[in-house]
Amino acid sequence: MAKMKVLIVGASGFIGRHLLAELCSAGHEALGTASRHGVHGLHKFDLLEDKVEKAIPKDFFAGSEPKLAVIAAAVTNMDDCLIHPEKSRKLNVLNTQKLVRYLQSHGCRIVYLSTGHVFDGSVGNRSEDDPTCPINEYARLKLEMEDFLRIECPESFIARLDKVVGYNPLSWHLLAEWWDLANKKSPILCVEGMEISPTCVRDVARGLRFAMELDLSGIYHLAGPDKIKRIEFARQFCRIGHFDVEVAEKPLATFGFLDGRAVKSSLNSEKFRQATAFAFANSRTILEAFFLNAKGY
Ligand SMILES: NC(=O)c1ccc[n+]([C@@H]2O[C@H](COP(=O)([O-])OP(=O)(O)OC[C@H]3O[C@@H](n4cnc5c(N)ncnc54)[C@H](OP(=O)(O)O)[C@@H]3O)[C@@H](O)[C@H]2O)c1
Repeated sequence: MAKMKVLIVGASGFIGRHLLAELCSAGHEALGTASRHGVHGLHKFDLLEDKVEKAIPKDFFAGSEPKLAVIAAAVTNMDDCLIHPEKSRKLNVLNTQKLVRYLQSHGCRIVYLSTGHVFDGSVGNRSEDDPTCPINEYARLKLEMEDFLRIECPESFIARLDKVVGYNPLSWHLLAEWWDLANKKSPILCVEGMEISPTCVRDVARGLRFAMELDLSGIYHLAGPDKIKRIEFARQFCRIGHFDVEVAEKPLATFGFLDGRAVKSSLNSEKFRQATAFAFANSRTILEAFFLNAKGY
């Protein structure tokens, strides 16, 4: 496999740091950014303030290896996108577009991380060709970037993700949140009818590497094979983790979210499986690996 040079914008985040590790261990040259100073091994690059020309070392663009840039940086909290619309649009769309143009003009192919929330959530198991209809500001911004890339950078790879979880109980993801609740004997409450595709963050990182190595372009869903009710996943979590806590569903309106939520955000990743032969871990395997790892904490 030819060595690639990959820039990860947002390598301090949940997915970015796993991707950085995945690329390095596969022998590629990867460079990451964080918006803050002093994040070990990462270049400081704040998309709202810093000039990209100054943040990215010039020698990244030198050499004959294929060059790619993964855009993982964003305002990722859905309600924050509603509360701070100008900042979110500037970061998630306007300055990201400027960055993409700069990277493209320096020979980089773009990998963009989008979301299953570009659909309205009325039905799950969505495929790439299903009609989009975002119902919150976060997803509208994601779709605006998807449209921009499809038109201006058609060679880009756009990965739509659903509920990405990890194995570290002290990190910030759904299983870590449930681990904390269950250890405090607090109930685990789920949105009524919510359906997700739990996806392991290491699989997302590996899947993105495969996509880059295979030079894929276009929109692909990268998601675990299960389309599972959130409450079922929570029950499985308690069963496998031997937790005896209440698990219940409540109507979406009682959760106090400020913006809309796609209730069924599960994704069909068959197109990606056919293109790469990559098999994502199912929800049971993810939970077993989580609890195996959690034993050390
Ligand atoms: N995790 C999921 O389940 C999921 C699902 C669907 C889609 N996605 C998408 O996947 C991407 C990565 O998600 P994630 O879970 O890894 O998010 P995350 O943990 O919240 O990380 C966000 C990243 O964005 C960076 N960032 C924030 N503000 C910035 C700014 N002003 N300038 C430059 N960088 C900035 C952060 O850097 P600092 O920490 O240094 O501020 C961090 O590296 C996002 O675009 C997200 O929308 C994630």
